[in-house]
Amino acid sequence: MNIEDIRRICVVGAGNMGHQIALLCALNGFTTSCTDVDPGALRKAEAFADRYLPERVRKGKLDSAAARETRARLRFCAELTDAASDADYVIEAVFESLEVKREVFSRLDRIAPPHAILATNSSYIVSSLIAPATRRPEKVLNLHFFNPALVMKLVEVVQGPHVSEETARVSVDLCHRLGKVPVHLRKEVEGFLLNRIIRAIRKEALWLLEMGVASAEDIDKACVHGAGHPMGPFQLMDLTGIDLSYQMAMERFRTTGDPADLPPPSLVEKFVKGHYGRKTGRGWYTYSKDDSDGQ
Ligand SMILES: NC(=O)c1ccc[n+]([C@@H]2O[C@H](COP(=O)([O-])OP(=O)(O)OC[C@H]3O[C@@H](n4cnc5c(N)ncnc54)[C@H](O)[C@@H]3O)[C@@H](O)[C@H]2O)c1
Repeated sequence: MNIEDIRRICVVGAGNMGHQIALLCALNGFTTSCTDVDPGALRKAEAFADRYLPERVRKGKLDSAAARETRARLRFCAELTDAASDADYVIEAVFESLEVKREVFSRLDRIAPPHAILATNSSYIVSSLIAPATRRPEKVLNLHFFNPALVMKLVEVVQGPHVSEETARVSVDLCHRLGKVPVHLRKEVEGFLLNRIIRAIRKEALWLLEMGVASAEDIDKACVHGAGHPMGPFQLMDLTGIDLSYQMAMERFRTTGDPADLPPPSLVEKFVKGHYGRKTGRGWYTYSKDDSDGQ
């Protein structure tokens, strides 16, 4: 199989990541279907595409014929069967839960054509834990986009021990076709590459905050103005979702059993209060309606 054989892409999960990955695929010439169990999420994803494309035309970043063609390539389906039955490549972006992902992959394995590659966008769950739910483990890998997926260039292509060379190669080529910068991880490691580095920074930032050394704002300022980071660790948590940070820490704790991996108290407090960041209008910072809709 070569990249030329990939023409139809299915994105499962239309949330924070999925709605943008689907639009990215359509923008880059792939016939794309996007599905979600939540009709509300699907409606929101469709409304986003219908806002985003004219906005790009208005800004002179896309011509109107390209916008029309992109929209025509993108469809939103309530049923997984409709979305995945003709897919050459599937990108899963559902909740960060191993149980949910295994169930989705087991269904995908039955629905998608035998040649289709099944990728997970999971931030932390390695594909070797998901692949046994299918009869095509050599075609199951991590394809890790960053938030917001339409903007961030990096994609981590993670080749676990069960993944074939062909699957890795086609996935790297796909990232190029999507205008991304892929990095190829030849070993499966929890947290992959960039998140391991970000986690170390976040842990230190939360410790400094909880020890009363500095405010979240000042810690963010230090990272932005001293280290040249585009945003600080607290701003980043608000963007990616504090619920996701919490779930990732819990998942890691369940794996290692090390109490040092438990989410720190300030993060637990935000999670319990439902202050997830931009998507709820409140996290480490408070956002106006425009900000929280902002991406
Ligand atoms: N948010 C980020 O910054 C980020 C970055 C990179 C990777 N990821 C990964 O992407 C995945 C999705 O994260 P998100 O932030 O978009 O989550 P999200 O909660 O915004 O969206 C998940 C969507 O999946 C849907 N869903 C749940 N079960 C489903 C099923 N069985 N079939 C179809 N749809 C289903 C939900 O209704 C929801 O709309 C996670 O694995 C996460 O680790 C997230």
